[in-house]
Amino acid sequence: MSPVSPVSPVSTEALLPRPTRRAVLGCAAGAAAILSACGGDRDASTPTVEADGAVRVPLADTPVGGSTYYPGASARIVVTQPSEGRWLAYDATCTHEGCMTSATDDDGNLVCPCHGSVFDPASGEPVAGPAQEPLATLAVEVDGEDLLIRG
Ligand code: FES
Repeated sequence: MSPVSPVSPVSTEALLPRPTRRAVLGCAAGAAAILSACGGDRDASTPTVEADGAVRVPLADTPVGGSTYYPGASARIVVTQPSEGRWLAYDATCTHEGCMTSATDDDGNLVCPCHGSVFDPASGEPVAGPAQEPLATLAVEVDGEDLLIRG
């Protein structure tokens, strides 16, 4: 498959459903930004959206054992790399009451700041807190130095 030229920024409403509640973000997205990113103390890039709706992010944003959050007005994504070369992406919308999972604890787990739900970065399954359902898994494809994410 030949790469498609990125178009940025555009809405990613087709990728993910709109959250039902306003998120409390652990990392701030600019008011005018459709998508932005935060990865702890790393400088995460701003994702782009392909013509087919796939979200493109650099692999370099997310180190082994790390996670990178891409909060957006209509798409909330977290990318993890629980082991070398194993890339995963989830809808970062917490399955408890819809806040954005937006922090990573010392064990590498994904944390929702609203009520403390904690999710496994390798499966999206809840490991603590009130959430009972896993984060929704998104399809990922490595494309060169980037990851393409589709809902
Ligand atoms: S909304 Fe995430 S723990 Fe309640």
